[in-house]
Amino acid sequence: MAQAQRVAVLGLGGMGQPMAANILRAGLSTVVWNRRQGPARQLGEQGAEVADSPADAVRRADAVITMVTNGDAVRSIAIDQGMLAAMADGAIWAQMSTIGAADTERIAGLVREERPDVVLLDAPVAGSRGPAEHRQLVVLASGPEQVRERIAPVFDALAQRTVWAGPLGAGSRLKLVNNMLLVFLAEGIAEAMALGHSLGLDRTAVLGALQDSPLVSHWAAEKLERIGRDEYSPQYPLSLGLKDVNLALYEVDIDRFPVATSLAGQWQRAVEHGLGDEDVTVLARALQH
Ligand SMILES: NC(=O)c1ccc[n+]([C@@H]2O[C@H](COP(=O)([O-])OP(=O)(O)OC[C@H]3O[C@@H](n4cnc5c(N)ncnc54)[C@H](OP(=O)(O)O)[C@@H]3O)[C@@H](O)[C@H]2O)c1
Repeated sequence: MAQAQRVAVLGLGGMGQPMAANILRAGLSTVVWNRRQGPARQLGEQGAEVADSPADAVRRADAVITMVTNGDAVRSIAIDQGMLAAMADGAIWAQMSTIGAADTERIAGLVREERPDVVLLDAPVAGSRGPAEHRQLVVLASGPEQVRERIAPVFDALAQRTVWAGPLGAGSRLKLVNNMLLVFLAEGIAEAMALGHSLGLDRTAVLGALQDSPLVSHWAAEKLERIGRDEYSPQYPLSLGLKDVNLALYEVDIDRFPVATSLAGQWQRAVEHGLGDEDVTVLARALQH
């Protein structure tokens, strides 16, 4: 079958919006839908077709991307709001939200039962809002090999590369591994900064010393730079980080992951204190008070 030409993007939050903009920029015909109307309107001004419902968005699309908060939101769009039933014969559904392994299996079961002609790809992404804007994401894809060529122009439009992880579900598992590392890095940065504060060190001096350290990745350096500016607007919101660590812990014997379990408890309390919509780096501020 030919490569995907017409792409529907459902979910235009911090990630979906720049991903759709890049697909549009790559010259693919793009139709968008979002639950709230604002983000879709903005893409409409850039040349995307704006659909009134998930079902309308996907009717004539060769490839459909879902990029929403969690598994419940994916199910709501796909089943309750008629997306899956309305998809074109043999179309590809690239499920790119981070929903973990169990929900990915549930979604796969629904596709098998209701639309076995639809080809489901499990394709979450590594990288957050900045990388999404600059086409620097990495797609952690899994699913049937025979559609790789068909979906390639879409993934190439929104990401710097695609890693094919194996059979359906492997992409989501790999994403959980990636994000376990990420949440530990975020916590490490927050606790290191809090320690510097407790030891009476000057924050600027601590940040300056860490910036050049071989321990600090590009990602961590950017986070430290933002902490230095007291900039905590969401790139990777704390609530999404908590969701991701909980999705990972759901899959394993938590007695073997005591530090991640403790981290999840601490992040849960921070979310209950109203910090969930801020960037994970807000922990650095919270731990100093
Ligand atoms: N931010 C990151 O750094 C990052 C990186 C990689 C992967 N991810 C994953 O990518 C996904 C999206 O993240 P994001 O940062 O774009 O989140 P976000 O900015 O919070 O946006 C969430 C999106 O999901 C939609 N949504 C939520 N519940 C819905 C429902 N019940 N029905 C329909 N739409 C619903 C929202 O619609 P409204 O606008 O109407 O609320 C919005 O479009 C998540 O699974 C996240 O874990 C995030």
